[in-house]
Amino acid sequence: MGALEGKVAVVTGGASGIGLASSRRLVAEGASVVVVDANGEGAEKAASELGGVAVQADVGDVTHWPRVLDATRRLGGMDIAYLNAGVTTGEEDIVKLTDEQYRRILSVNVDGIVFGTRAVVPELVARGGGAIVATSSLAGIVAFSGDPIYTLTKHAVVGFVRAVAPRLSENHITINAICPGLVDTPLIDGEIRDSLAGVGFPLIPAEAVAEAVLGCVLGDATGQAVVVQLGREAVPYRFGRPPGPRAPGVEGRIPPEWLADSGQPAPPKGS
Ligand SMILES: NC(=O)c1ccc[n+]([C@@H]2O[C@H](COP(=O)([O-])OP(=O)(O)OC[C@H]3O[C@@H](n4cnc5c(N)ncnc54)[C@H](O)[C@@H]3O)[C@@H](O)[C@H]2O)c1
Repeated sequence: MGALEGKVAVVTGGASGIGLASSRRLVAEGASVVVVDANGEGAEKAASELGGVAVQADVGDVTHWPRVLDATRRLGGMDIAYLNAGVTTGEEDIVKLTDEQYRRILSVNVDGIVFGTRAVVPELVARGGGAIVATSSLAGIVAFSGDPIYTLTKHAVVGFVRAVAPRLSENHITINAICPGLVDTPLIDGEIRDSLAGVGFPLIPAEAVAEAVLGCVLGDATGQAVVVQLGREAVPYRFGRPPGPRAPGVEGRIPPEWLADSGQPAPPKGS
């Protein structure tokens, strides 16, 4: 028996790379999977390999989410949502960034996570709790100057996950961000892959990221940004505390979450 026997998982961007590897890992643990992807043919191919259901959808289009929910309801409900679809701009120079590049990446990488979370939470609540995992990136923690707008979107994912986690934990839902370094997927094909190969930079296998995703799904921690690097155990990033205000009488009046680390355990899932 796998650890996810009887559970239903949605994986966005599930036709390729990290999403496909994670779909395989979740299915290996017994979950049924709904593979969501803008690439309908790719989603069909993945779903038929995994005995799952394919949904062609653009995660950044709010009108597409009902078809994702319909697919999970046909399987009895939703327990796990892996909001993973993402793109890069490939543009290092802010002056050359086009409006289309900017709007597209905001739509996929930010709207896709926000619309996705808003859509799936009531479904998870209906099952008594569950797990949301969002793919950020190491660029969600460090300043990756090769693609500043990608960095912006991935920082947004980390901030959102940390901020929304406490409220979701009241409904026994965990939400964590996955922050991998460079992963061997089609996303980095082309110039990036060539330049990395030129200096012999080793890439993380997508399966290692999938293992970290599974860890988030099975664990009780929430509001974490889990860093995945080659050859290391996945670890939650430890955010520092910002300085608090220094003024007479202000002590004890600051909401603790403004200063505290996140990564608190949530109440047990499904309880
Ligand atoms: N590859 C890396 O080095 C790396 C590192 C850190 C984070 N990430 C993140 O991992 C996630 C997955 O990327 P990957 O490397 O597996 O890339 P990938 O290109 O192999 O897979 C991304 C999938 O998302 C789908 N997709 C794109 N836009 C979509 C949309 N609007 N709606 C639905 N599906 C859409 C694509 O069709 C594709 O199947 C992304 O969020 C990416 O930013 C990747």
